[in-house]
Amino acid sequence: MDVFICKDSEEASRLAGEQIIKQIRANPALVLGLATGSTPLRLYKELIKACQTGTDFSRVRSFNLDEYVGLPSDHPKSYRTFMNDNLFSHLNIRLENTHVPNGMAHDIPAHCAAYEAEIKAAGGIDVQVLGIGSDGHIGFNEPTSSLASRTRIVTLAEQTLHDNARFFANASDVPHYAISMGVGTILEAKQCVMLCFGANKAKAVKGAIEGGISQFNPASALQMHPNTVVYLDEAAATDLQLKDDYRWASTHKPQ
Ligand code: F6R
Repeated sequence: MDVFICKDSEEASRLAGEQIIKQIRANPALVLGLATGSTPLRLYKELIKACQTGTDFSRVRSFNLDEYVGLPSDHPKSYRTFMNDNLFSHLNIRLENTHVPNGMAHDIPAHCAAYEAEIKAAGGIDVQVLGIGSDGHIGFNEPTSSLASRTRIVTLAEQTLHDNARFFANASDVPHYAISMGVGTILEAKQCVMLCFGANKAKAVKGAIEGGISQFNPASALQMHPNTVVYLDEAAATDLQLKDDYRWASTHKPQ
């Protein structure tokens, strides 16, 4: 795991953006795994800026991590709407090349299997963008999710319902179920780029990076991934024991 402790979320998003943009320039048909929530918003602004200044997204393909069950794709709070509003509509990406699980799927297990098959048919995810929940979830893989899990329907933890209530008019409007790529699905991405910002993520970040690998903190499974880069702001890095070592290593990378 490469850990970068940045001055703030702006610097972290810029660095993450730079390396993703570099990969799109090298491989214009890159397959991106994408997340929603507050965390990737600045990163998405970096991607939009890159598109406006000449990076071509017309062959880029994308797969989102998750979607709420029961929200139609055109619902204002669906993750499809979030992605269209915050990223896709500002890029020259082809909407048919963007994939978000269908929260209204009739046969959810069949839809999940088809989603996995589509990822495979695209050649797998090249770069998976991740945030982290305050309970250590990635995607909507809540604590005690199997570290081998695949795309499936999941029940959101009470903590997540509480954390996500800020996006809805009433806390009771937060859907209780979602379709989420599994931890096993995420681990198959060629690279994982995790962004973690704010003091409320510090405990989860400590567990993910320095704790034992455990389904209690699903993000800790990334310790088994051969190419994971984590960008933190100072607040999210607060509880890390080896902060100085991460700073040293990140400023002394081989060329
Ligand atoms: C959403 C997702 C979640 C979020 C996490 C953090 O697609 O994958 O795992 O990354 O809940 O959310 P924010 O960024 O809102 O703190």
